[in-house]
Amino acid sequence: MKLLLLGSGGREHALAWKIAQSPKIEKLYIAPGNAGTREVGENVAIKADDFEGIKQFVTAHGIDMVVVGPEDPLVKGVYDFFKNDDKLKQVPVIGPSKAGAVLEGSKEFAKGFMQRHHIPTAGYKSVTAANLEEGLAFLETLKAPYVLKADGLCAGKGVLILPTLEEAKKELKEMLGGMFGNASATVVIEEFLSGIECSVFVLTDGKNYKILPEAKDYKRIGEGDKGLNTGGMGSVSPVPFADAEWMKKVEDRIIRPTVEGLAAEGIDYKGFIFFGLINVKGEPMVIEYNVRMGDPETESVMLRIKSDLVDLFEGVAQGNLNEKTLEIDPRSAVCVMLVSGGYPEAYEKGFPMTGIEEAKAGGSIVFHAGTALKDGQVVTAGGRVIAVSSYGANKAEALAQSFQNASKICFEKKYFRSDIGFDL
Ligand code: AMP
Ligand code: GLY
Repeated sequence: MKLLLLGSGGREHALAWKIAQSPKIEKLYIAPGNAGTREVGENVAIKADDFEGIKQFVTAHGIDMVVVGPEDPLVKGVYDFFKNDDKLKQVPVIGPSKAGAVLEGSKEFAKGFMQRHHIPTAGYKSVTAANLEEGLAFLETLKAPYVLKADGLCAGKGVLILPTLEEAKKELKEMLGGMFGNASATVVIEEFLSGIECSVFVLTDGKNYKILPEAKDYKRIGEGDKGLNTGGMGSVSPVPFADAEWMKKVEDRIIRPTVEGLAAEGIDYKGFIFFGLINVKGEPMVIEYNVRMGDPETESVMLRIKSDLVDLFEGVAQGNLNEKTLEIDPRSAVCVMLVSGGYPEAYEKGFPMTGIEEAKAGGSIVFHAGTALKDGQVVTAGGRVIAVSSYGANKAEALAQSFQNASKICFEKKYFRSDIGFDL
């Protein structure tokens, strides 16, 4: 099979690494990919949301399946673009339809969906400039801190958590006034939930589903979860509190109602669902839905999938996922992200990198996130640069290996968190 994977981050390198191991793969292309994905497939210089460019490539190269890494092309309707095109409709796309991607593309839709299907989540009110007064009144009924979410996609920046009522009211007005452009023309005000978070992933064909290994990610730049939010500083799988009893609650109260709810609403959904959960005194609740895999969770989750991922994708495409097996590696897997000094604020790019081969020889799997090739040399090209993933008999063993190998990779102003997994 010839498979085209869309995207260019650490998540896509991890997906590409796993896909390339499938005996079913004759050729793997990644559009646009990065300096790491070219080690496991062929990069093609097409942006992940350039649908016409993708169409030309898919028809010219006889692509048999397209797998979508990031949310952007999904929210823009890449699935529907294929389905409605005579030349492309035979080619399965792993990822939801535009109607399904709204679960991530609109916080208001996601909250309404959960309410309709009795899926546990924080209480909320959806506000626009037209009912600002109701929003301000709703804020008064809540306790601090206050959670405000821009309805639309904001590259992970659309959630504000405010310590006082005064600030919450002020920020609500600013969001509605265009702080995030059109994305915050509607704002969801939520009750604050206190607990520890966990990312749960499923692969679904719209009827059947497989629960992939769960993971916990570390979003803050500083140790002890201090400082600004980032795209993710590391991840750990499995998550100890996500034991069989807790996961049964997740499946019964959240996963099954979601998959059945999508089908009941006539939403075409063949792809990943990412449940951003929080454990509130032993009870799982949904913080958010994403319609793709998580980053940097994928950089540990892929290590724990023993089965052929492409075989599972075929099950998704053909609607017989129930006939496929998903075997999970009992070992722990972790990922430690190396970032550019200064990130998530201003940082420099273009620093030469060394030690990647040494880190691999030390037993880690290295996934590129923000790297580029310059005159044959790997250089830094983003805030989050490279992920060092490892297996271990337990979390501590896996982390020790990742930290040891992280120290072998050198570039100017390298930074990483040395406390990944500290709270588990
Ligand atoms: P989201 O983009 O919805 O995942 O929100 C970003 C982050 O804000 C989450 O990962 C949580 O840490 C936090 N958050 C979002 N909603 C809530 C909530 N209702 N209560 C507490 N924390 C929240
Ligand atoms: N790790 C969180 C996300 O991918 O959105």
